[in-house]
Amino acid sequence: RCKAAIDILQAKLKMINSELSRQKNRSVISQITSRIKSAESIYTKLLRKKLEPDFDTAKKNLKDLIGIRVVCPFEDEIYEVVELLKLQKDIEILKVKDYIKDPKKNGYRSLHLIVQVPIYSADGPQKEPVEIQLRTLAMDYWSVLEYQLYYKKSENEEVAAELKEYAEEIARLDGKMLKLRNKIEKI
Ligand code: GTP
Ligand code: MG
Repeated sequence: RCKAAIDILQAKLKMINSELSRQKNRSVISQITSRIKSAESIYTKLLRKKLEPDFDTAKKNLKDLIGIRVVCPFEDEIYEVVELLKLQKDIEILKVKDYIKDPKKNGYRSLHLIVQVPIYSADGPQKEPVEIQLRTLAMDYWSVLEYQLYYKKSENEEVAAELKEYAEEIARLDGKMLKLRNKIEKI
C-alpha cells in the first residue's frame, strides 16, 4: 500500500517534470527520492508525542509514514511544481508548511506538504497520507549535512549558530543563481 502511494506520486511528479522541462528546455526537478519511515523512528516519534507505540496509533496519527523528496534547481520552480500538483484532481493537499518563506529557527528551509493519495486495494478505495518535501539543490545540500551531523543529535550553541549562518549563505546563493538564470534567459 505504501509502495502504491509512492508509485502514484512518483508518476505524477515525473509527468509534471516532463511538462515543465519541455516548456523551459531544462530540467526543473533534479531528483525524486522516497522513503518509508522506519519502525524505530515511528516508535520514537510516538513516544515523543506521548502516544501508544503501536501500529494503529501510528497509522492514525502520523502523516509522514510515507515520504517523498523533490529536489529542484531553482526556488521559484518548487512553487510551479506545487501548482501543478494542485491541479491533479485526485491528490488532496491537507497541509502546507512553508519553511522557505518562514525558515525554521535553525535555518532549515524546505516546502513541506501533506497530501492524500487514493489507493485502490482489495477492500475498496483508501486514502494514504504522504509527506512531500520540496527543496532546492542547495537547500538539500545543507539539510543532508545538517541531518547527518546535528539534527536531533546534539545541542551546541556555537555549532547551531554556524549551521544557521551557512543556511543563510546558501539562501543568498539560491537567490543569486535565480537572478543569474533570469539574466541568462533574457540574453
Ligand atoms: P518530525 O521532525 O519528522 O518528527 O516531524 P514534524 O511533525 O516536526 O514535521 P516537520 O515538518 O517539522 O519535519 C518533517 C521532516 O522534515 C523531518 O523528518 C526531516 O526529514 C525534515 N526536517 C525538519 N526539520 C529539519 C531540520 O531542522 N533539519 C533537517 N536536516 N531536516 C529537517
Ligand atoms: Mg520536526
